Amino acid sequence: MFELEAPLIARREVASGMWVLAFRAPEVAAAARAGQFVNILLRPGPLLRRPFSVYRAEAELVEVLLKPVGAGTAELAALALGDSVSVLGPLGSGFQLDQAAGSIALVSGGLGVAPMPLAARAAAELGLKVHWVHGARTAAHLCSEWEGSQVHWATDDGSRGLRGSALAAIPEGMGQVLACGPNRMLASVAARFPLAQVAIETYMGCGTGVCLGCAVPRTSGVYDRACKEGPVYQASSIRWAELPQHLHYGLGP
Ligand SMILES: Cc1cc2nc3c(=O)[nH]c(=O)nc-3n(C[C@H](O)[C@H](O)[C@H](O)COP(=O)(O)OP(=O)(O)OC[C@H]3O[C@@H](n4cnc5c(N)ncnc54)[C@H](O)[C@@H]3O)c2cc1C
Ligand code: FES
Repeated sequence: MFELEAPLIARREVASGMWVLAFRAPEVAAAARAGQFVNILLRPGPLLRRPFSVYRAEAELVEVLLKPVGAGTAELAALALGDSVSVLGPLGSGFQLDQAAGSIALVSGGLGVAPMPLAARAAAELGLKVHWVHGARTAAHLCSEWEGSQVHWATDDGSRGLRGSALAAIPEGMGQVLACGPNRMLASVAARFPLAQVAIETYMGCGTGVCLGCAVPRTSGVYDRACKEGPVYQASSIRWAELPQHLHYGLGP
């Protein structure tokens, strides 16, 4: 884990109101694996760091994807090129890919697309056939960037791809399923693909395992820390009804 002053190097809009920010953070970029996150502190800014999945990590740059939903994300989105933030990471567990799976579906709803580019690259390096399955409210809200050998779109209003959620667009016969999105979508993934790995969203305080503010109820009866043992879990191991349903992946596409 590294803590670096990281200048903003580039930004681009990849869907309506959704931005990718690229920070120079060489050690974090070199160490980050798919499904891990960074905890970003603005100075001046909100007191607590804000967690973001690593979207891409290469050439000394760590990219995060965000949509302004509150004070921290609005200030991040308003940074000027050259402004610095403190980046702590990489944090949390990543996705575990199965080389023997043959094919993999990377299933995302809205901002849940954030951990998928890294997952796509790792899966392709293992020789897996990567199906990119992405859903959003409308065509304008779909992330315009995708990776893999085949893409499957879904929109609530049918303006691109299948009408419905990303879940409806998952092809049959996938060897492995990874998912990220609103908790209610992930609960549906769990019902259909109990062995899927899901990256979940919780409230977070410290991000480093100390404050216990990110409790995740497991079917085993224990509570995990999303920031340490998670945020990636086997879908069937979560007590979904007890997780908050209104967080920002949950604001949806
Ligand atoms: C592991 C993890 C990875 C994440 N990855 C991404 C990502 O890649 N892209 C992205 O846009 N967002 C991501 N989030 C959510 C993001 O961290 C929150 O949207 C952000 O912290 C809100 O900060 P804010 O200051 O803008 O909002 P605030 O002004 O603090 O709060 C506005 C609203 O956000 C909610 N909120 C506050 N803190 C969090 C939090 N830590 N998680 C969820 N909701 C919160 C509050 O309930 C409140 O309603 C991730 C969260 C986690 C836990
Ligand atoms: S956020 Fe503090 S223990 Fe997880």
